[in-house]
Amino acid sequence: MQNIHLDFDNVMAERIGEEHGITRAELGDIRERAAKCFQNLVKERSGGLLPFLDLPYDKHTTARVSEVANDVKKRDFSDFVVLGIGGSALGNIALHMALNGPLYNELSEVRKGCPRIHIIDTIDPDIFNGLLRLINLEKTVFNVISKSGTTVETVAQFLIVRDLLRKKLGNGYGKNLIATTDPVDGALRRIAGEDNYTTLDIPEGVGGRFSVLTPVGLLSAAVSGIDIEAALAGAASMDRLCQSDDIRQNPALMNAVLQCISYNKGKQISVMMPYSSRLKGVAEWYCQLWAESLGKKLSVDGEVVHCGPTPVRALGPTDQHSQLQLYMEGPFDKVITFLIVGRFESSIKIPSDVPDKNLAHLSGHSLEELMEAERLGTQAALTENGRPNCTIYLPEISAFHIGQLLYLFELQTALAGKLFGINPFDQPGVEAGKLNANALLGKKGLEGRKKELEQFYGRRHDCKEGEENVI
Ligand code: PA5
Repeated sequence: MQNIHLDFDNVMAERIGEEHGITRAELGDIRERAAKCFQNLVKERSGGLLPFLDLPYDKHTTARVSEVANDVKKRDFSDFVVLGIGGSALGNIALHMALNGPLYNELSEVRKGCPRIHIIDTIDPDIFNGLLRLINLEKTVFNVISKSGTTVETVAQFLIVRDLLRKKLGNGYGKNLIATTDPVDGALRRIAGEDNYTTLDIPEGVGGRFSVLTPVGLLSAAVSGIDIEAALAGAASMDRLCQSDDIRQNPALMNAVLQCISYNKGKQISVMMPYSSRLKGVAEWYCQLWAESLGKKLSVDGEVVHCGPTPVRALGPTDQHSQLQLYMEGPFDKVITFLIVGRFESSIKIPSDVPDKNLAHLSGHSLEELMEAERLGTQAALTENGRPNCTIYLPEISAFHIGQLLYLFELQTALAGKLFGINPFDQPGVEAGKLNANALLGKKGLEGRKKELEQFYGRRHDCKEGEENVI
């Protein structure tokens, strides 16, 4: 099986010049530090501190996920709804979009007897009501996913669904709920136990954004017929491809290094631009992984660093007509990663009968050829303009290659954390907003904060005309 690979020619100074490109000397200078970072990671892994790296080998979890997925399929549910947010949803979306494709929910011949999949990572009432209009509760199974079991968005979704199911199905309502959560702790685990839901465990020590290869991402994938064993085999093969502490022999380490050097040369925006709409979800998942892991105020030594590249998702060729102008001529603050595929699942030809001679060059080409020409053309133009870019090539969008890609990005993120000297596994910055929301909703113990917020911000709630700084 051909592997995915990383082509970083166009970030090198030989291609784009020394001002914006990376020189061989810069790579040489960081080589030893990168090797040390990798060795530390290996040590932490063997000490059991990085369990996400061993997920591809967890046969027990795969067997349990397959068992639950088979049970769902046997019970002939028409719809499978994931309730979760952040790392408890984005991996599902990435797998579903990439491997089930755009017509999965629309066409029964694509689903081949599997239920429709809905991943609801929002509490927007219009979306939630839309979903409820679309499904038949009795024929729907809800997979509520929350590691902490306390995330307000997910808990609110869950409480609404639980109430509706109880009203409709009575005491046996738990048969339509599957909880994926911490093996021991949290409100969700407790309720699931009391009301007899099927449960799946999120392995200890695996954080949300690193959990796509746990039951978090694997159950909805297995229910929709994705070959999860192939995805895990892909992840394991990427693990094997990234065993060396030499940047030249380890794509995850090399890409972490390239991103880190680029950042330090002022390229603080990391654009992920797939040339396949099916990979849009992967790009979104990557953006969360990169942002929440690397955006940190403090270094591991407690120094204030305010570090972190800003990830941006773009889509080729759509964003050639939106973002590209900025990437070509705006500030030199970006490094772009193209995600490209060798083979699309289907093909479609542009007719040879072209009724205008200025368009005749399109005649007889396929849309894939057009896509490839646009990608190459864009990449060449960016390179000639001194804009650093690299390419991750997937031979095809298969479970194996998506498994490789996700693992590559997870490992790269952990290594980038080490290179930046920050902890990529926490997210202290999101706590303040959460606390405020809980206070405003009246959580016990936060009464003082509620008052403060209402005094300083609450009065502005409606953006009333006539107030200071409202026009
Ligand atoms: O990556 C993370 O840790 C977060 O994005 C979480 O996944 C997100 O906040 C949801 O958390 P939980 O699974 O506890 O509901």
